[in-house]
Parts: sequence; structure tokens; C-alpha cells
Amino acid sequence: MLSKFSLTALAVFSFCAHLHAQIKTKTSSAIDQKVDKLLSQMTLEEKIGQLNQYTSDRLSTGPLTPNSTKYQEIKDGKVGSMLNVRGAKETRTIQEMAMQSRLKIPLLFGLDVIHGYRVTFPIPLAEAASWDLNAIESSARVAATEAAASGIHWTFAPMVDIARDPRWGRVMEGAGEDPYLGSLIARARVQGFQGKGLGNLDAVMACAKHFAAYGAAIAGRDYNTVDMSDRQLWETYLPPFKAAVDAGAATFMNSFNELNGIPATGNAYLQRDILKGKWNYQGFVVSDWGSISEMVAHGFAKNNTDAARLAITAGSDMDMEGHAYLTGLPVLVKENKVDVALINDAVKRILRKKFELGLFDDPYRFSNESREKKVLNSAQNHQAALDVAEKSVVLLKNDNQLLPLSKSTKTIAVIGPLGKSSNDMKGFWSVEWENDHLVSPFEGLQNKLGKQTNLLYSQGCNINDTVRTGFADAVATARKADVIIMAVGEAFNMSGEAKSRANIHLPGVQEDLIKAIKATGKPVVVMIMAGRPLIFNWTADHADAILYTWWLGSEAGNAMANVLFGDYNPAGKLPMSFPRAEGQIPVFYSSKNTGRPSPNGQPALYRSSYLDIPNTPQYAFGYGLSYTNFSFADLKLNKSQITKNDDVTVSFTLKNTGKYAGEEVVQLYLQDVVASVTRPVKELKDFQKVYLKPGESKTISFAITREKLSFYDQKMNWTTEPGEFKLMIGNASDHILLQDKFELVD
Ligand code: NOJ
Repeated sequence: MLSKFSLTALAVFSFCAHLHAQIKTKTSSAIDQKVDKLLSQMTLEEKIGQLNQYTSDRLSTGPLTPNSTKYQEIKDGKVGSMLNVRGAKETRTIQEMAMQSRLKIPLLFGLDVIHGYRVTFPIPLAEAASWDLNAIESSARVAATEAAASGIHWTFAPMVDIARDPRWGRVMEGAGEDPYLGSLIARARVQGFQGKGLGNLDAVMACAKHFAAYGAAIAGRDYNTVDMSDRQLWETYLPPFKAAVDAGAATFMNSFNELNGIPATGNAYLQRDILKGKWNYQGFVVSDWGSISEMVAHGFAKNNTDAARLAITAGSDMDMEGHAYLTGLPVLVKENKVDVALINDAVKRILRKKFELGLFDDPYRFSNESREKKVLNSAQNHQAALDVAEKSVVLLKNDNQLLPLSKSTKTIAVIGPLGKSSNDMKGFWSVEWENDHLVSPFEGLQNKLGKQTNLLYSQGCNINDTVRTGFADAVATARKADVIIMAVGEAFNMSGEAKSRANIHLPGVQEDLIKAIKATGKPVVVMIMAGRPLIFNWTADHADAILYTWWLGSEAGNAMANVLFGDYNPAGKLPMSFPRAEGQIPVFYSSKNTGRPSPNGQPALYRSSYLDIPNTPQYAFGYGLSYTNFSFADLKLNKSQITKNDDVTVSFTLKNTGKYAGEEVVQLYLQDVVASVTRPVKELKDFQKVYLKPGESKTISFAITREKLSFYDQKMNWTTEPGEFKLMIGNASDHILLQDKFELVD
């Protein structure tokens, strides 16, 4: 089904109409006047130069096209932006080249500042597990402050792609499976990066990526085709992008994938109709690395010049390492295949940002070495990273309250390939630093524990080993200990871009190592470090306690130790469902009931189920334990019947019934029971993270607004329909503790 916004129906005349709509921007503002003035002085070649972005020689984050003339091209005014440049000194040197060009238009320096800059924060998926929007915003804030002090104007983050396929390596970079949680996190990250606004010396431009639907690559294979209904696009994949627009994201990045036969980079429906049209977006769109020229390989463009035509027409403003605009656009304008108004519009969008950043006042304002020294790697930034790292940990299992461990435990053995790994704690997409030191799990324990504890270590195996030669030593070490902490998972480069995996079980023989250690009869805590949900069924059934720590960044080991010994009570909740088997993927909580639902998701004849495993995931979205317990009681609704203009207020009592202070993430789900379009069995509509001391209770309330009852009807109108709504409150999507219903009447 096509939405009413579809370009397809409008194709013949839409091009000019859209162009006009977009060009008609706020011409009155002072910046726009400056932009117009500058534009009037620019040659076509200089305009096209502004749309051109190259990578620096320092780093390449994609397939490199050799280019020995790039620095000369900067001096010639043929480059608008450089990526993969960093450092006050280096950015100054390169900016000086741009200052040799005729119009002295400053360059924009962009970098993937994804989870921290100098101080590494937990990977974004881990941060999403905190369900703590302030913490997530503060992580982006610290990253922006450091990056901006290091000459960077622009981060290629946040990645707001919804991801429901853990085979896809880039799940580590997003906020998981849910559009509501994903939208709030998108907003928090944009606000964090852009701080009090562009122009401040601690703000960098955010870039909402990858527009759009990149996370839905078939079979979780990176860069693969995406084919999805318009309903799925609007309901699930677009909301976080819209949230980024609303939060003021300065830029967008399009994506490598095709969407329903049209590559996103050449997709006018996405970029012109939706983003710059319906959403009236005033920022600019950068292509992904080489994604303009890749439209040739897609079989969508005849050659690079044709690709340039398709991309600029569809609304891609800047060409990242595609080498298509610089050579293609002059030809296309000459042959009247591209209207120069299109180029003007793209240039204006880019220049506006350069003015907003204050670069025309001082092109070197972010390149100040003494500020850089002061701001980077401060104790305060490490403290912030530690705080977010603790909040990102998810307690999956804690039989017999094994955790928290006592600090007077005599002998503890750390076993597993990640036990002494510092480097893997950084996760994919961290920024490389010479002699960087991240705190390993073992070191974190050493920092925490006094001399009274004997800390042992045995590696047991390497991450991807197929041999068990180290098991004997690991078992002998375990036998000497009172409790064993296993440090297992993925190496930092096993999840990330181009890191799809068809087998997402705990790699190598690591689960066998856990079995061997468990056979000693000693209590076993398993800590799993990874960039994606992994499969570890045996461990789920047999380990005494499991902490999912993801990759926690600079302070990883210290955060782990704080959690293990109860100096921090874990409160993380999974932002993505964990499958039992690859064959279940995609498995996500907001599924449809089907006409033949299976009872409790169990295998059943002539029901929508599998013969061999339940439909339910190993661990559901929203799941995560605490060292304390919480009770949910006294659900009250202020109305059981409402009209379209009313809200329902829901309240209940949350009580900490255990012996530790802690936080619970209370989650509110709704189901529109009967509608003109079938609705998911539940959808997250609100949540709160609540801190309570032992014995303390609190009344929690939520307002259910009309917006929360709305959906896209058969004609793709955002609306509500009368009827019954089921309300569910719990501490995980599969652990509903209170429920009721109410009715919407005409
Ligand atoms: C390709 C990735 O898809 C994108 O997310 C990243 O920002 C660029 N490379 C630049 O490194």
C-alpha cells in the first residue's frame, strides 16, 4: 500500500513543486541573508565543491577511492567537508587549506563520535538498556564537549535505525527494537550532542542516520535489500527519525539499502516527500559513504554521473566519498539534466550550518589546542562514563541471590577470554587513541577488592577457539575459588558495521568452558560482553547468575565490579529481545496475535508456533532484574470510558519489598483490541524509572493521551477508533503485573 505522501503518484509534476516548497525557507533570517549573499558570489564549480566530502588520510571508514589531489582540491574550493579528521592541530592545518580558496568558505569536519570521543562510553545499545534518558543525553553531551574541543563540528550520530535482527552487526549502534523507546532515545542523543545549540563551543551537529529502514536488511546481512510495507515503515522505522527532526537534528544521513526497489540515496519519497516535504526539514542530508556511486552497483544508475543526477534530484545534499557530484554535476547542469536551483538549495542548507556554527566568524574556533588539553579525558568525564556504564548492565539471572557478592569472599576466580581484555571493552565505533587504557574486568575487581581477597585468573580459551586446551587450567583454577566470575562474549570487532553473523551463539567453545566450570560445583556468575543479543541457552538454564554487560567502554571493569559487589544495584532492561535460536529471528515483543495464536507461545497443533521451540524469546524486551524486589498493586483508572478528547489517568503503587535500595523501570503497554487494521498484542506507550529505598513505596501515574491511542488506519491516516483498549503495566514486556481495560466512545 502506498501512503498518501507517496511520490509515486505525483512523480510527473512533483519535482518542481517540491523544489519550490523546500527553497521557500525562512529567507528573512540574518543567516539566510548571509547565505544568499555568499551564494550569489559563487561559481557553479564552487557550489558543487560545497556538496563534496572526502575522508582524510588518517582514517578510512569505508572502501577507499585513491585520491592524491584532495588537499589541493580543498585549496581550490572543491571540497565542503572532510570526515575522519580530528584534533585541534590537525583540523587547524586542514582548515588553513580551505582558507586559501577564493571565497574562504570553511570546511565542516565530521567524525563518527558514536559512544564517546576521548573517554569511551558504553555502546549505544548498552546505553539504551539503561532506559535512562538523562544518562543517555549526558553521554552524548560529554562526547560532544570532547569532540568539539578537538576541532570536530559534526558527529555522524545518533543512529536511530530500529533493529530487530541481532544477526545485523549494527544493532550495537542503535537503541533496539522499539519505536517508542527509540524515539525518546533519539531525542535525548540529539539534545546531548547539540547541547544549547550550534554556535556554542561545546556543541556538535548531530546526524540522524540511516534514512531509512537500514535496520531491516533482509536476513540481517549488512547493506542488504529492504522490502517493507508503508505501514511498517511509518509505524516502526520512521518514528525515531521524526523525533530527531523535532529535536532539531542539524543533519541527516541517508542509507546504503534500497527500499522497495529504490536505493535510499536516490529515493525521493524518503528525502523529498517525507523528510523535506511533510516534515519540513531545514537541515541537510549527507549520503552514506559512497552510497551515491553505489547506485550503479544497485542497478539503479547507469554510471556515476547518472547516480549524481538521481541523488541530487532525490534530495541528497552532500556526497560522502562517492566522487560523483564533483565530476557529475557540472556535466548534468550543462546538459540541462539538473536544474541549478537544486544545487543552490543543497548549498544553502550546508552554508547555513557553517554560519550557525560560527565558522565564518572564526574558522578555527573549535581548533584550540589548550582548550583541547583541558577538556579531554577529564576525571569528570570518566565519572560520567562510569555512571552510564553501571546503568547499562542488565541482570538476567540471579539464582539464590548469589549476587551481590560479599567483599570478604576469600578467593575469586576470573575465567574466560575477556577477563583480562582491556581493548575489547571499547566496542566497535570507539575512537582510537594511542596507549589508551580501558579497565578490564579483572582490573576492575582488583581496584575494588582489598588484600583479603585472593583473585585468580585463567583464560580457558580464546574467543573464537575451537579447541579446549586451556580448559584444564581453567577448571583447576576454579577449584581453588569460592566463586567464579566468567568473562565471555564477543571481541569488540564482532559486532558493528559489516559485522553481520549468521551464527549468533556465544562464539567458539565458550559455552563449553562455562559447562566445564559449572561442573566443578562452584557458584558461577557469567558476565557476557557483546555488541548484540547472543544465544546461550545452556548458560541461561544452568549458570547461577548472569550479567549482560555489553561493551561498557573506558570504565568497564570498574562498573562491573560495582555491580558484582552491590555498590550499584543493576536496573537495566533489555532494549531488544534475545532469541532462543537464529530461526526465530526476527523475534520482538510487539507482534500480532494471528488468527491462530498458540497458548503462551508454546508449540501447539494447528497454531502459529514452531514444533521445536516456543515462540517466546529467551529474554524479552524490557526484561531485567534487580537485587531487590518490587511489588505492583492498587491499579486505578480515573475513567473506564472516554471520548476522543479525554485522557485516562492510571495510577498504582510501586513498593520496594526487598532489602536493597534500587530502581525499577515500570512499563506501560497498550493494546487496541479490535481495529480496522490489526494491532500488536502490546505496544510500549510509556515508562518511568523509579528509585525506592527498602520498604519505600510510591504512587506512580501515567496519563494516557489520545496520541497514545492513535494508529495509521487503512488509508494511512493517523487516527483513533472507538473500542476497547487493554492496559498492561509490568516490569518487562512478558511480565505484566497489573491490567485493566477502558473504552473509547464516539
Ligand atoms: C558508513 C556508515 O554506514 C556510517 O554510519 C558512517 O557514519 C560512515 N561510514 C562514515 O564513517
